[in-house]
Amino acid sequence: MAKPVILTGDRTTGPLHLGHYVGSLRSRLTFQDTHEQFLLLADMQALTDNINDIGKVRDNVVEVALDYLAVGIDPERTSICLQSQLPALAELSMLYLNLVTVARLERNPTIKDEIRARGFGRDIPAGFLCYPLSQAADITAFRATVVPVGEDQAPLIEQTNEIVRRVNALAGRALLPEAQAIIPRAGRLPGVDGRAKMSKSSGNAIPLSASPDMIAAAVRAMFTDPEHLRIADPGKVEGNVVFTYLDAFDDDRDAVAELKERYRRGGLGDSTVKRRLDDILQALIAPIRARRAELANHRDHLVDVIRRGTGKARQITERTKCDVMAGLGLFQL
Ligand code: TRP
Repeated sequence: MAKPVILTGDRTTGPLHLGHYVGSLRSRLTFQDTHEQFLLLADMQALTDNINDIGKVRDNVVEVALDYLAVGIDPERTSICLQSQLPALAELSMLYLNLVTVARLERNPTIKDEIRARGFGRDIPAGFLCYPLSQAADITAFRATVVPVGEDQAPLIEQTNEIVRRVNALAGRALLPEAQAIIPRAGRLPGVDGRAKMSKSSGNAIPLSASPDMIAAAVRAMFTDPEHLRIADPGKVEGNVVFTYLDAFDDDRDAVAELKERYRRGGLGDSTVKRRLDDILQALIAPIRARRAELANHRDHLVDVIRRGTGKARQITERTKCDVMAGLGLFQL
């Protein structure tokens, strides 16, 4: 039996951080054994809100790929591919534009939130409004049936499946499989400042390439319980970022439970808990940083990995595109 196909991707707008690690990179490592996995360097999608910063989008192709390999993505088992070099994705996107209305695109809750967050007002780039179709093209072109994504991406998978059903209805047979979103149970990692989402643009992220000093500074500045003033005072664990991170990264669950208990009771200082978290994050990131630095010295090898992954992806996505165009009854030469 062929392994099920998994597709995930990242916009190439900056190096990846601990939020990505918890939310998806960690699980991608285990999928390497059980699934046929493709990772998409989504530079075309990144352009939908970065057209004035093409250099950033280009330069981060290598940075994101470095992050993949540094955490342990194995190019022999996972194909890393570059979106802008896969023309079938653009061709399918063009086709799918005819299968949705502008009103449906504007109703997508993820897009609505993002439009608001980016302050586009009435000047929404058409590419941005339509990027869910481009993502539907990504997913269907690979015939991915499993798409592990953050919670905020669930509406995009839903919209993908609407497209799949339209295509299949028009073709009169199951040309494309529906995809299932897998949302990580751990939820999303908050920023070090306690805000809901870790993101580079909010300045509250710890990158996977962080230096020991950066890690220490981030932990030192981490949001705890603002009312926990003296060590003897009882402290709050809920909403306390240090504990949220311990939950995400400390494998010794019993020790964490005990720390929480002591913190709640009073008598446990922030600095003690922070020291533990600092040790854990230093130990997690040190080998990633070292591997990343080593890989960065071999840029040719890295580019070759992307070229091979993209080559394999080109064949697969091209075949799907041809199947869909033919299946829908377009003129064949
Ligand atoms: N939208 C995803 C993100 O911002 C990136 C992405 C592009 C993606 N194409 C994809 C994710 C296909 C899953 C499947 O993180």
